[in-house]
Amino acid sequence: MRLVIVSNRVTIPDRHEKVMAGGLAVALREALEQRGGLWFGWSGAVSEGAPAPVRQVEHGNVTYAVTDLSEAERQSYYLGFSNRALWPLMHYRLGLTEFQRSDYMGYLGVNRRFARALAGLIKPDDMIWIHDYHLIPLAAELRRRGVTNRIGYFHHIPWPAAEIMGVLPFSATLIRTMAAYDLVGMQTEVDARNLIDGLVSLCGARSDGRRVRLGPRETTVRAFPIGIDVEGFRRLAAASARQATTPLRATRESLGQRKLVIGVDRLDYSKGIVQRLEAFGEFLRDHPEERGRVSLLQIAPPSRSDVPEYADLDRQSDEVAGRLNAQLGEFDWTPIRVVKKAYSRKALAGFYRRAQVGLVTPMRDGMNLVAKEYIAAQDPADPGVLVLSRFAGAAQQMSEALIVNPFDSHEVAEAIRTALAMPKTERIRRFEKLYAIIAATDIDWWTRQYLLALSGEAGAAEALA
Ligand code: UDP
Ligand code: G6P
Repeated sequence: MRLVIVSNRVTIPDRHEKVMAGGLAVALREALEQRGGLWFGWSGAVSEGAPAPVRQVEHGNVTYAVTDLSEAERQSYYLGFSNRALWPLMHYRLGLTEFQRSDYMGYLGVNRRFARALAGLIKPDDMIWIHDYHLIPLAAELRRRGVTNRIGYFHHIPWPAAEIMGVLPFSATLIRTMAAYDLVGMQTEVDARNLIDGLVSLCGARSDGRRVRLGPRETTVRAFPIGIDVEGFRRLAAASARQATTPLRATRESLGQRKLVIGVDRLDYSKGIVQRLEAFGEFLRDHPEERGRVSLLQIAPPSRSDVPEYADLDRQSDEVAGRLNAQLGEFDWTPIRVVKKAYSRKALAGFYRRAQVGLVTPMRDGMNLVAKEYIAAQDPADPGVLVLSRFAGAAQQMSEALIVNPFDSHEVAEAIRTALAMPKTERIRRFEKLYAIIAATDIDWWTRQYLLALSGEAGAAEALA
């Protein structure tokens, strides 16, 4: 059975080491390279005039089939409806949610165009796995074109309570397209519950536990917390300890004996970067004895810069980091370094391992792979401490981290202090528990669980439910 993956963003690997910021691309690359198959989606490029035909590129055992978007499609489907309406709404940011009818029409138009192109590429026994909020209506569009294959969907970001989803105009029309899938995967149980509630209360579906019926098909909705390649990451980090990458060597030299706190996030308001910088400033103000002994390195590659809310965040983070450095820094010590560029996984693995504290404090996050990568990269004999937002999906699994509320800067500041002062025995105890859980639910586990449930073999979906 061939696996066909569809996602908005598709990055065709090239000979150079790939720098990919974004959990979806990282996780799916790992899943598909092992199994082989077809990966369909947006090339990331914009074509002038009429949409270009689908291009196919073979790479290893994966066929990449990509299409450009027109500038109007990029504006309405990607920047508009996906990233100014769905993204903020699904991250519980009603105040940032901008809805335009024309954007919604563009969103539906691209989903229709993708369905047309895809219908010509799939074979009768393909298993189709669609990813993320850009493509919610895609299965419904494929069904309208007579596609009867098993089709699954995985939602990488939070699914909010029905009360919040109901704010979106046409939300019932959009949500009911979920019923065209055989299996819908969510990051957490709460997300799965929220979707089922939405289907029942906004669309009038019937549900018994995890199964939902709306129209001809029965859809199973379940949580499948996404994982990382734990062993691969562990090896990358261990190798960095033996042979440092250039950025790591330079960082080590400039830090000397100082401790390091690390944050790694796309420059996105859901990640709580500005709030984190403020909390680090509060920690230094409350604990002057720590000044000069520790620095925060925040890696924040720019993301979706054409969306005004992201451009605002870019400016705001510069302003806050500049102010705190000016107020608290010394001639020979810079408290906060914000680096707005993407690093390779190899470089990140080395940074994580050098850092005594991993600061992962999103205001809301579907899962957050950085939390898992930070743990995978630690030296088991002398591990660092993870400070983790309770509003990241990862907190549902990683309860041995120091769990914080990112809206409470004092709590975050105190967690930084606790983490820096934590005795080695306790660090090792927490690390071992966290490592065991991320290793037991790694990317391979996630893919196998999901595909087993989607294939519906021998009632697998029911057995696992
Ligand atoms: N990432 C990267 N280089 C960077 C910053 C991030 O490769 O400079 C990767 C990071 O290692 C992780 C992913 O991007 O695998 C981010 O995933 P996460 O789930 O934390 O957040 P998302 O960006 O998907 O919201
Ligand atoms: C998150 C989303 C992905 C998205 C990624 C990067 O991980 O869940 O769907 O690809 O962010 O964002 P971008 O808009 O650059 O694709």
